Amino acid sequence: MNKKLIVGNWKMNPLGLDEAKRLYKQIALGTKGIKKVETLVCPPSLYLADLMKLRLGTKIGAQDCHFELSGAFTGSVSAPMLKDLKLPVVILGHSERRAAGDTDEVVNKKIKVAIKLGLKVILCIGEKERDDHGHYLETVKMQLEKSLAGIPKKMFGQVSIAYEPVWAIGANAKAADTPEDFQHTRLYIKKILSKLTTKEAALAVPVLYGGSVNRKNALEFLAQGEADGLLVGRESLSPQNFVEIVKNSDRL
Ligand code: PGA
Repeated sequence: MNKKLIVGNWKMNPLGLDEAKRLYKQIALGTKGIKKVETLVCPPSLYLADLMKLRLGTKIGAQDCHFELSGAFTGSVSAPMLKDLKLPVVILGHSERRAAGDTDEVVNKKIKVAIKLGLKVILCIGEKERDDHGHYLETVKMQLEKSLAGIPKKMFGQVSIAYEPVWAIGANAKAADTPEDFQHTRLYIKKILSKLTTKEAALAVPVLYGGSVNRKNALEFLAQGEADGLLVGRESLSPQNFVEIVKNSDRL
């Protein structure tokens, strides 16, 4: 059985390195000895090198990277830079990056460069609004097809999908998705993936849920929703709550 992947996406938090170190240490300490869950913390890029130097064992990933290897791209971080820090994973296509201008085509270019360098990729997808007729699945399909266009079948082992409906993300979210709906969407995602790669490879791609995950609803998504993992935003900034999510997931 594959390990569940629980990701903490810190976004543009916290405000200082000392606090970042404190959060990371507490998470590393609290999740020590966890067997069935892979924990991944994704801090702002500015803190990556310092947190990696702590060598605490808990995996660290990046929140984004550019699609060019180097050059005149002010403010950006490239995949080779992440590789140089020995980071294993990068989140790509997060809805907040998409809102800042990342199209599916841009996300596609980023995925290609990241996987070519051997990084694992967590591709975020999700509709802006949910309708009652299932049209949102069209958005999911388009995002998958365009973001993963031209990715060699044998590279799908480096890809995880995080389904994060935009309306469920952040402090202004109406609510999280329901585990039942997520379960259906997950199967749909697998179906689309099986057309882009082989059926076996598609079945092996982890599909995470993200959007207002907290310590109360986390287990429902893993159990009833059959999520292969979770992408946690706000709640990952509370080490106590994040650790609780990881520990409870380990007991499933
Ligand atoms: P949230 O964010 O858990 O704060 O809703 C999730 C995300 O954007 O990854």
